[in-house]
Formats: sequence, C-alpha cells, structure tokens
Amino acid sequence: MKQGTLIVFEGIDGTGKSTQCGLLAKSLSEMEVPNIALAEPTRGAWGMKIRKLLSDGRQGISPQEELSWFINDRKEDIEKNIMPALKENIAVLMDRYYFSTAAYQGALGLEPDQIRLENEKFAPVPDRVLIFLTSPEKCLERIESSRDQKSAFEKLDYLKNVQKIFKSFSGPNIRFIESVGSISDVHEKVLAATDDLFDFGLKL
Ligand code: TYD
Repeated sequence: MKQGTLIVFEGIDGTGKSTQCGLLAKSLSEMEVPNIALAEPTRGAWGMKIRKLLSDGRQGISPQEELSWFINDRKEDIEKNIMPALKENIAVLMDRYYFSTAAYQGALGLEPDQIRLENEKFAPVPDRVLIFLTSPEKCLERIESSRDQKSAFEKLDYLKNVQKIFKSFSGPNIRFIESVGSISDVHEKVLAATDDLFDFGLKL
C-alpha cells in the first residue's frame, strides 16, 4: 500500500528538471520532510544496458525491445527503491518515470496512451507530475554547452516529437512548468505546484 508522496519530474533533455528535482529535495529536507530523490534510467543492470544504448546508438534495436528495457528497469526500481520508500512514508522525487517512456518511446511510433496505461498496471501513479517545457532548440543549446557529446536520443526532430507528446498528457495530477527564467524563478514555480501536498505556506 502506498503512503508517501510521489512526485515526478518530466520533460525533454535540457529543460533543467534534474536541477529542479534536487532543489525540491533540498527544500523538503529543510522542512524536515523525509525524502529521497531517484532517477530513471537507474544505475541497475537494465539501466546500464539502456545507458549503453544512449551512448552507442540504437543499432537496430526495435522500439518494442527498447520499451521493454525501460519497463524492466522501472519494475526493478519500483520493487527495490520506490515502494519501500513510499511504504515508509518517505516522499519520493523521481527524475523521469513512465511519462518519459510514453513520450520517448511513443515518439518512435509506439502508442503513447497505451504505454502510459500499460505502466499504470504495475507502477504507482504519482501524486504530482511536473512536466517542464522549454523550446527544443534552447534545450539542445544547453545540452551542447554542458556535454562533450549528445546521446542518440538528443536530436532536434525527435525531441520536438517527444515534447509534443509530453504536452498532450492530461489528468488531475499533471502540471506544466515553463522552464524559463532563473533557476530560482523555476524553483518558485515548483514550490507553487506542489505546496498543497506539503503545506509550504504554513511552514515557510
Ligand atoms: P536522462 O534523464 O537524460 O539521464 P542522464 O541525465 O543521467 O543522462 O535520461 C537519459 C535518456 O533516457 C533521456 O534522453 C530520455 C531517455 N528515456 C527514455 O527514452 N525512456 C524512458 O522511459 C526514460 C526513463 C528515459
């Protein structure tokens, strides 16, 4: 049974979601809310297989097979990390989750809504999903200035399609965050988009 709060940070590469995930973890710790920040793909066996795909390119691996790797990685993450923390009433902050699978593998021609539904059969549904939006051109600029090499997933047309799918998601737990302005401006937006879950207003 799920008890802790599950918050997910989603968006294309270069939107700054990982930075914001770390900042919310810090704010929660300052307010003495027990929390853990996790990321997918993980550092487990499936996650490492995926990272090789990112660095070496897809090399003929089918979209279905790629999808199954992300799902296997997630199942392991849920069992080993996510559920145990939630059961302990620890807030779990995820840097990517199944919305990334629906968007990135959906952009390979698979059906995004179907991927989301398949994941929701085994994955705890987040209390809040923050989807960070920035222009794909700007995201690529950020990636290029911060890394030596782009991964196989970081091509402009692909990222445009991925972001289009991210924008198509709807539901009571979803919030879109325009990732523009300073890091602290965006952090304020994150706090505003999650304060009902933690009563920031009362504690700050
Ligand atoms: P990323 O968050 O960029 O990892 P890191 O910052 O550690 O390099 O994720 C790596 C890539 O994996 C990213 O381009 C998105 C992709 N991805 C998918 O295609 N499907 C998924 O289900 C997930 C979780 C990630």
